[in-house]
Amino acid sequence: MNQDELKKAVAQAAIAYVVDGEVIGVGTGSTANFFIDELAKIKDRIKGAVASSEATAARLRGHGIEVFDMNDVPSISVYVDGADEINAAGAMIKGGGAALTREKIVASVSAKFVCIADGSKLVDVLGAFPLPVEVLPMARNAVMRKLASLGGQPKLRVKPGTTDAFITDNGGEIIDVAGLSITDPVALESEINQVPGVVAVGLFAQRGANVCLLGTAEGVKTLTF
Ligand code: 5RP
Repeated sequence: MNQDELKKAVAQAAIAYVVDGEVIGVGTGSTANFFIDELAKIKDRIKGAVASSEATAARLRGHGIEVFDMNDVPSISVYVDGADEINAAGAMIKGGGAALTREKIVASVSAKFVCIADGSKLVDVLGAFPLPVEVLPMARNAVMRKLASLGGQPKLRVKPGTTDAFITDNGGEIIDVAGLSITDPVALESEINQVPGVVAVGLFAQRGANVCLLGTAEGVKTLTF
């Protein structure tokens, strides 16, 4: 199976976690897109969805799935999203698709986080994938200096083919931090969260995944944390 087939397989497997009659939390990215397409097939069983990005909201609406404002949804049973890396404890790096802040917010009100990922995302130590950090634009250089002092190599994310900063759905910018070997993700998440100007860090360790559906050549493996 190629990577897309693995992503589709885990997206199909995630449907088993959908709770009938409820509002589902939906993540962002290529794996989440496969999940949205699967969700569309059972859309009559759910009330709707809360989206973690404008792109996800548009895809959900395109399938005729109602998208709720999170302010109107007090709690969510299940949140389904991909990851850039996940470790054996369910801690993740997310934000490759720049939606980390809204993903973190939706995950924070969800009782269960179901991570869907192809097998390449499972790692021993987080950090080979550059860690995304969303910042307020005025704090960009100050936050980059702080991230460098933590041992990383921070780089401003730019719009493809330009030198202009990439702008998130929230009006923020993204700093990608390479060169980190994250042996204590819970502590690093706290430390980066406390830097003034940081909106969110793409470490999902304090609220990690509860379940990971991992696509492998042998089939979908279920890891629980
Ligand atoms: C978006 C994310 C994605 O979940 C992550 O980048 C994985 O994406 P993909 O499923 O395309 O590999 O965090 O902000």
